[in-house]
Amino acid sequence: MPSLTVHAGGLTLRNPVMLAAGILGTTGASLRRAALAGAGGVVTKSLGSVPRDGHPGPTIVQVDCGLLNAMGLPNPSYKKFQEEIDIARTGGVPVVASIFGSSAEEFAGIARGLDADAFELNLSCPHAEKYGSELGRYPDLVEAVTGAVKAAANAPVWVKLTPNTADIVELGQAAQRGGADAVVAINTLKAMAIDIETGYPILGNRFGGLSGPAIKPVAVRSVYDLALRLDIPVIGVGGVTSWEDAVEMIMAGACAVQVGTALQKGYGIFEEISLGLARYLERKSMTLEDIRGMAGRHY
Ligand code: SIN
Repeated sequence: MPSLTVHAGGLTLRNPVMLAAGILGTTGASLRRAALAGAGGVVTKSLGSVPRDGHPGPTIVQVDCGLLNAMGLPNPSYKKFQEEIDIARTGGVPVVASIFGSSAEEFAGIARGLDADAFELNLSCPHAEKYGSELGRYPDLVEAVTGAVKAAANAPVWVKLTPNTADIVELGQAAQRGGADAVVAINTLKAMAIDIETGYPILGNRFGGLSGPAIKPVAVRSVYDLALRLDIPVIGVGGVTSWEDAVEMIMAGACAVQVGTALQKGYGIFEEISLGLARYLERKSMTLEDIRGMAGRHY
């Protein structure tokens, strides 16, 4: 079988199939379980500087084409979560801490105080006042936050970008100017669902973020544009559900992929995607390097 080892944004991953932020990343035990099930790396739920309850329920609704969530960044604070990261690390793969803040200083303070293998800056949550895309849609803020975290952290810094913008490449370029080791594209698309019996929005927060198969073509296009225009690696996330999706994302230019909503199928998804990817490469007599960015080389 061909090697699936990749070097992605300052980390070496045994395979390019990672657990995405926010899904099963709420405890060290669940992160460790994802690692033992075959994930090449795992990302925690987003962590802030103080404990946060999140939005009122309902916080998740299944829609025909994916999942809508408005969790509202609930977390016990980065200080409380350190012990979970330590447990997650016993799974033997890199543990990436997703972090959020309302200013460059707040982000930097968290990165300074947390011991993780890399940081993923959540500059893209579409439904939390003062956080996420409320900062991350402005290139100058993306650059400032990235620069501040780079100066504070002693681990690689990845920036998770929002698709809820006119030009995601501008945001990626800002992250690159700030010194990011990689960008992660994409977070969820701002969306809502309405209960037609009552006329009320279903989510407690009224609107949230759409993930799953519906957003995969948006993610593929974003990864493609970013990979063509940036010098730093791009990690693809959004609707990856099968090994075929992973191949497509890598052909768009991703050096690794993250799996989130598809975890509804169970932890076996990591091995299923890795095995399918390896068999595909073997059948084609190609390496990951050969297919990475292939779609961009046709023009
Ligand atoms: C949440 O915890 O609210 C979801 C995080 C995100 O959308 O980035």
